[in-house]
Amino acid sequence: GKVRAPTHIISTISDDRGEEPCYAGVPMSTIVEQGYGVGDVISLLWFKRSLPRYCTQFIEICIMLCADHGPCVSGAHNSIVTARAGKDLVSSLVSGLLTIGPRFGGAIDDAARYFKDAYDRNLTPYEFVEGMKKKGIRVPGIGHRIKSRDNRDKRVQLLQKYAHTHFPSVKYMEYACQVETYTLSKANNLVLNVDGAIGSLFLDLLSGSGMFTKQEIDEIVEIGYLNGLFVLARSIGLIGHTFDQKRLKQPLYRHPWEDVLYTK
Ligand code: ACO
Ligand code: LMR
Repeated sequence: GKVRAPTHIISTISDDRGEEPCYAGVPMSTIVEQGYGVGDVISLLWFKRSLPRYCTQFIEICIMLCADHGPCVSGAHNSIVTARAGKDLVSSLVSGLLTIGPRFGGAIDDAARYFKDAYDRNLTPYEFVEGMKKKGIRVPGIGHRIKSRDNRDKRVQLLQKYAHTHFPSVKYMEYACQVETYTLSKANNLVLNVDGAIGSLFLDLLSGSGMFTKQEIDEIVEIGYLNGLFVLARSIGLIGHTFDQKRLKQPLYRHPWEDVLYTK
């Protein structure tokens, strides 16, 4: 009989063996001819299913909103310095990407994890925030260096408005807003930030769309898919900053002595 040689790799998201590549079983010709967008491609390759238009549009809005936030933020700063050191595109890009983490852009998964756990356990915002404080953990998705109660993050407002109009339920986002009301009573800059808004709204997308089982939602949150949205989005801006520096023929960057406190 036939003997099947054992394989060393299992792959379930795409297939390039036929006449055309397929993403989660959908041929490239369908993707192009049916006018699929980047949100659809992300749905197929990350979630292995076609999601309704309001979901893919939400994903695309997240990508557009997070694509850049000016030259001063951690990621752009690193990419700019690296490009000015004469490094290539990939080095400049990854140098910026490597700053994405728990403080900058990479708090989406933890925000989703902690908001979900607190909501599902019926914790009041007070119990949740004070519990985190006792554990010495900053609430992921809360706080910003320059945004505050009187200078709200427009990106957060745009995401909330979209979800209010298109999502069947925004219970996790509403919970995150209640948490924000409580944290704002402590300090002016403890706003719901864009990571927290995406984290809580993605929980609403996953649970409200009817496209995912409870087990699948738990797996997505546990594995941590959502920081991928920021990584993907911000790559657009970091590539832009790299080209910008090269176009401007900027010299090697050296930080000014005056801006360093030399001390023993
Ligand atoms: N939860 C609870 N308390 C907080 C939080 C928070 N998320 N953020 C700040 N505080 C309080 C703490 O008491 C902190 O004191 P500590 O250093 O002893 O913990 C105090 O405020 C001082 O904080 P600031 O100096 O005002 O905060 P900073 O401007 O340095 O930090 C930051 C901003 C990094 C975003 C912070 O708020 C934080 O860590 N948030 C959680 C992570 C997060 O959501 N990051 C994503 C930001 S959005 C983005 O990057 C796209
Ligand atoms: C960003 O999107 O890069 C910002 O929210 C972070 C910042 O420091 O402004």
